[in-house]
Amino acid sequence: MPSLGGLLKKRRTKDSQTLSKELPQANSDRSDHSSNPDANPDKAEGQGASMQSAEPSQGSSQHHAHSSNNAASINNLINTPANAGSSTQSPAHTSNATPSTQPQPQSQPRQERTTRGKYSQGDFMLQRTLGTGSFGRVHLVQSKHNHRFYAMKVLKKAQVVKMKQIEHTNDERRMLNRVRHPFLVTLWGTWQDSRNLYMVMDFVEGGELFSLLRKSQRFPNPVAKFYAAEVTLALEYLHHHQIIYRDLKPENLLLDRHGHLKITDFGFAKDVPDITWTLCGTPDYLAPEVVSSKGYNKSVDWWSLGILIFEMLCGFTPFWDSGSPVKIYENILRGRVKYPPYLHDDAVDLLSQLITADLTKRLGNLHGGPQDVKNHAWFAEVTWDRLERKDIDAPYIPPIRGGQGDASQYDKYPEETEHYGVEGEDAYGHLFPDF
Ligand SMILES: Nc1ncnc2c1ncn2[C@@H]1O[C@H](COP(=O)(O)OP(=O)(O)OP(=O)(O)O)[C@@H](O)[C@H]1O
Ligand SMILES: [Mg+2]
Repeated sequence: MPSLGGLLKKRRTKDSQTLSKELPQANSDRSDHSSNPDANPDKAEGQGASMQSAEPSQGSSQHHAHSSNNAASINNLINTPANAGSSTQSPAHTSNATPSTQPQPQSQPRQERTTRGKYSQGDFMLQRTLGTGSFGRVHLVQSKHNHRFYAMKVLKKAQVVKMKQIEHTNDERRMLNRVRHPFLVTLWGTWQDSRNLYMVMDFVEGGELFSLLRKSQRFPNPVAKFYAAEVTLALEYLHHHQIIYRDLKPENLLLDRHGHLKITDFGFAKDVPDITWTLCGTPDYLAPEVVSSKGYNKSVDWWSLGILIFEMLCGFTPFWDSGSPVKIYENILRGRVKYPPYLHDDAVDLLSQLITADLTKRLGNLHGGPQDVKNHAWFAEVTWDRLERKDIDAPYIPPIRGGQGDASQYDKYPEETEHYGVEGEDAYGHLFPDF
């Protein structure tokens, strides 16, 4: 029996199975919904690796979120101007075209991307793997044109088809292409060869919030509040654009070099004007209306925000079980949450209004929308407009010392041996028309 510590260090993978009209007895079928790690050779390999290297390679020299250097304080949430910013540049630009790599001034209006084009493997030099997930592998790559570093997500078409993820994968590309927000990762372009789909995004250098949280065990109240507030703004933006995200978890929250969040992995993001029925997400984070396959909407992201805040403050998720996802689902449907005594009263109040099965009571899903969440007492110190401009210092600055392309904040994974860019017979290309 693996220890609690060992299991908590493991990255959690998605659970996805379309519950359509063919599966009306959703509750009795729940055992079929568990994720199957072995179905994906990438994932089995990646997960194994992250289990074995329980502590990330650079872990011992890492600062912790609550270390004195980066001590979080309420001041971090309300006042200090930050020099954080994002310098975005299309991989096709030559470095001469846009020479500056300096952060942009905060007050500058958001730039429209100049290129969202088609690239090919030949435009990039492949570097190490940054992460693996249920369906994909993400590499660090360097543009041969402007010499900047990017993250390239690779999905095997055969695997996507086998795992019935065609629609989700096309949605991932379409949703990412539509969004533009300081706390969402930027997609620059996509392409496909005979075997794989490729998506090139900004390389977010600071690593996963997951790694920081596991090293810190749990975050002090102001640190959790800072990250939760940035996620809240991102969710507000997505929902405003009728997009539900559906896979909120620390593994998908990356830190930029200034310590601000970037949400990656739009593998389950979906355009949903009203309701949908698909069972997908990561077990610990699924809302009861998803587990019991009722139709659901944006409400599920607010539930997941509650789980995320709980996990940041406590170091574990409220419905966690060392057994199978089915056990987790049973706990979710039972709905009993034990709030540890060290939690602040305001945090418990907010969590109990987010982690509630009653959709008529769930904050974020009520008449006031996301504003109800932002107005909650736990967030009282947050100046939302400044936060959105990244005009507030982050509580933790990732120790990136190697300049551009420093991937030291990411765990190491066994590398992919398959050669990318292979031309040949392509049975599935037509299924991915946008790539
Ligand atoms: N833009 C990025 N910059 C740096 N690393 C990234 C970026 N995007 C993803 N990663 C890394 O790759 C990992 C896997 O990517 P992603 O979550 O998109 O894959 P996935 O297969 O859809 O994941 P899962 O099913 O586990 O949620 C992330 O957890 C992160 O560590
Ligand atoms: Mg992911």
